[in-house]
Amino acid sequence: MTQRIVVLISGSGSNLQTLIDHSQKGDLHGNIVGVISNKADAFGLVRAQNASIPSLVLDHKTFASREDFDLALIEHIDSFKPDLVVLAGFMRILSAEFVRRYQGHLMNIHPSLLPRYKGLNTHQRALDAGDAEHGCSVHFVTEELDGGPIIIQAKTPILMEDDSASLQARVHTLEHKIYPLAVSWFCSGRLRVTDDGVMLDDNCLPSSGFELKA
Ligand code: GAR
Repeated sequence: MTQRIVVLISGSGSNLQTLIDHSQKGDLHGNIVGVISNKADAFGLVRAQNASIPSLVLDHKTFASREDFDLALIEHIDSFKPDLVVLAGFMRILSAEFVRRYQGHLMNIHPSLLPRYKGLNTHQRALDAGDAEHGCSVHFVTEELDGGPIIIQAKTPILMEDDSASLQARVHTLEHKIYPLAVSWFCSGRLRVTDDGVMLDDNCLPSSGFELKA
């Protein structure tokens, strides 16, 4: 059965666009049934409208607390009856209650080779540290910020001439490869998280996840 996906965004939504494209091609094994943004001016909302996907804005600034916002968010998400909730540039820290509600059915993409560089400014931090490589990770979400079990990573070498913008652009291209793959694995029933770690088919993935080679 085709899986129902809800995507949460805060901005440009280029990862959302990639998921839309793959869904339309039929290789995501899932349909994006709703898009929710916490920002009214997020360009991802236009992408959703162009693809005729129902979308809504839930502005966190109109709620008294994180918990109140998250409860309203849960209500809206659940109205779409999703099998999978995908965070695609959703720049909010989630409450424990929210994370527990969707445990095992909640994915995030992060622009670093986790566990390195949780949080913000990941590209500049990789440059400042003199790292030889950088990349991105898709992971299941747990209560630890950017800390859940990793599903897949892709790497790129850091070049002498790189600055934060050039690195970000290359990592973005990699994000657009690994997110649809992780979502398609989940939607086709190949991926799940267990007490032993992340399982792809019958294989337990290493703690750094599957590595997508260039
Ligand atoms: C992406 O680079 C994603 O990895 C990052 O936000 C960007 C959203 O881009 N997410 C985080 O930093 C989450 N901690 P997009 O709106 O074009 O998909």
